[in-house]
Amino acid sequence: MIIAVLGGAGYIGSHAVDQLIKKGYEVVVIDNLLTGHKEAVHEKARFYEGDIRDKVFMQSVFSKEKIEGVVHFSASSLVGESVEQPLKYFNNNVYGTQITLEVMKEFDVKYIVFSSTAATYGEPEDIPILETAKTLPKSPYGESKLMMEKMLYWCDVAYGIKSVALRYFNVAGAQLEAKIGEDHTPESHLVPIILQTALGQRKEITVFGDDYDTPDGTCIRDYVHVVDLCDAHILALEYLKAHNQSNVFNLGSSEGFSVKEMIDVARQVTEKEIPEKIGERRAGDPAVLVASSEKAQKVLGWQPQHTNVKTIMETAWKWHSTHPKGYDSK
Ligand code: UFG
Repeated sequence: MIIAVLGGAGYIGSHAVDQLIKKGYEVVVIDNLLTGHKEAVHEKARFYEGDIRDKVFMQSVFSKEKIEGVVHFSASSLVGESVEQPLKYFNNNVYGTQITLEVMKEFDVKYIVFSSTAATYGEPEDIPILETAKTLPKSPYGESKLMMEKMLYWCDVAYGIKSVALRYFNVAGAQLEAKIGEDHTPESHLVPIILQTALGQRKEITVFGDDYDTPDGTCIRDYVHVVDLCDAHILALEYLKAHNQSNVFNLGSSEGFSVKEMIDVARQVTEKEIPEKIGERRAGDPAVLVASSEKAQKVLGWQPQHTNVKTIMETAWKWHSTHPKGYDSK
């Protein structure tokens, strides 16, 4: 089966490509390399550099390749930036998905696995969060992903394009061999920032608020290993083929860790001091985000293997310590 991975040069996309290839899929990577890295593109994937918003480019790829399914990671994904530049998010994320769906319809591609987010829920009423919880995004980023989910829904109704939307919680860690890993510029995610501090690339880590209604006052998140997360994408493709039915799933580990706990785990793993200071709250941060991933486990048969945060941190550290400048390290 030939799968097009949109955003296959990015952090999560490159891990998904790696696992698809290990499972025997033929993979076509489409990426504009604005945030992705050419070095992250798997050597066995056929790579097309271009933008999913460019319909002529997308048509040329889909006419050359016999694509049977799409796994869609191509999106801008910074919550804070989206509040300042909402139109960037509606253009890149929503319009990019529109072109993707138009081309899928034209070339009769029936399956899409979509990278959605816990940011579609906003401030949750109940923890753990179920897929049936209200979706009231607090940022244009979350809103754009919810709009993309709705586009998928209506394209199923009208054209029979079947989708699985996977709502990610906090993705972290790296491929166990550490040949690929997380490399964003600028970096805003907690785990890489902690590890850059361990490497001495940052003086300290600023904890964004310690006055939340949580046991140690810092925000609690649900960290899921990138390899486990990508396994769920393969199961989602298999689900689509077997059931020809659209669905939505949360992907988390169902356990929450505070910012302070994560820094402590990193101290154990790296054996570095990792100085921290307490700063202001970051706008838009909910106090607690923890998923119920029961539905993915029951319906997709998802069995995450690397649920221990120490393992997540160890694999991330293996990547960061061997690639201190990310893909520019060589
Ligand atoms: N944090 C700090 N200091 C930092 C960076 C982060 O204290 O320097 C805190 C944040 O305030 C937050 C936690 O660490 O409480 C995790 O922050 P991240 O930026 O790593 O992740 P987010 O929870 O903000 O967002 C992530 C993804 C989003 C996704 C969201 C859904 O980046 O794309 O999870 O849960 F929408």
